[in-house]
Amino acid sequence: MSQVKVSNAAKAKVAEEIKFDILTNVPEGDNELKRSQIARAFISDTITVPTKEMYSYALLASLGDDVYHEPSTAALEAHIAKISGKEAGLFMPSGTMSNQIGLRTHLMQPPYTILCDNRAHIYKYEVGGAGFHSGAAVTPVAPSNGHHLTLKDVESNVVYGPDVHFAPTEIIALENTLNGTIFPQDEIISISEFARSKGIKMHLDGARIWHVAAEIGTSLKELLDPFDSASLCFSKGLGTPIGSCLVGSKEYITRARRIRKLFGGGMRQTGFLAGAAAYALTYNFPLLARVHALAGKLQKSFEEIGVTILSPAETCMIFYDAGSIGSTYDEIAERGALLPEPLFLGGSRVVLHIQTSEDAVNDFINLIATIAEEKRKAGFIKPEIQVNGHQDVYVRRAN
Ligand SMILES: Cc1ncc(COP(=O)(O)O)c(C=O)c1O
Repeated sequence: MSQVKVSNAAKAKVAEEIKFDILTNVPEGDNELKRSQIARAFISDTITVPTKEMYSYALLASLGDDVYHEPSTAALEAHIAKISGKEAGLFMPSGTMSNQIGLRTHLMQPPYTILCDNRAHIYKYEVGGAGFHSGAAVTPVAPSNGHHLTLKDVESNVVYGPDVHFAPTEIIALENTLNGTIFPQDEIISISEFARSKGIKMHLDGARIWHVAAEIGTSLKELLDPFDSASLCFSKGLGTPIGSCLVGSKEYITRARRIRKLFGGGMRQTGFLAGAAAYALTYNFPLLARVHALAGKLQKSFEEIGVTILSPAETCMIFYDAGSIGSTYDEIAERGALLPEPLFLGGSRVVLHIQTSEDAVNDFINLIATIAEEKRKAGFIKPEIQVNGHQDVYVRRAN
């Protein structure tokens, strides 16, 4: 109780200052506009939004506190662990936190190095987190085939042995899909067998592993068998608002749970987020096949128009060369934005997602055909250039 007598008017004044009606700023119509824009946005799959059905289902989940025990979240973690063939899982607010805690939990005492692809999210887009959180050096390796790391690439860059000049490789971190491409499983197995023979841990950034499972019809368990730990995201291809899951052994996840708390990632009433993830696993995962088919259609049409494809539509992304039709990404994005129903386009990377509409894909193809035709009429002749495999010659966004 306050010692000083405070008037009810003063308390009411404070309450008046604090209150905020968010719905006057976001009327319902705006959300419908947002949904229609997302159906026409090719920038990323992180922009997908929860549907009313997802929210309705999610709100039925339990109301526990996850730092102690949240029943729906625990059930989700157990389910993800089971389908991944791992002992335990840990719900995370983001893919970045899941990867970084995943790495930190393996790493006990520097000096050490993490070996990964030089295009990997953990290396390029996690703010130097491996150095900051784990004191780890990173060996970024350019895949010699331009598509995925091979055992040979790994063997020639891994660090071990008695030479005191070097920080030994403690983790090999792979990413699948990477830029939408599928890592051949036999190569992963070879790298993993090598890693295990040297006592090196294997971590997977599986933010979009769902796409691999959907495309090649292989179980998550089989895909994740070669790894000691993996991070799987719900908020990208699967379309939830938030959430990832780290999986590994019971002992590993017990330590990761403490490190998550240390990082400030111990969350409270996460039940509805777990509910959204469960909805996505059941209803959104089956939609990925359509997404991949649409990406394939987009690529085929681009090729027919004469567009050079820099990285093909193995799953939900393609990378193309605007210069191959005499245009630029800025010009294409500006023209897309001026359409009666605008398209939202980024650079060379084109991402399709579960909320992409077929009309948007057709409009994008027509836009590219129109621009290519205009450029041809203006005298543009496509130069004879060699595209070297799937080189990282394009600008890649962080998400
Ligand atoms: C492959 C990959 N891993 C990790 C992340 C990080 O996820 P988040 O944005 O949830 O931190 C992303 C982001 O899109 C990603 O593309």
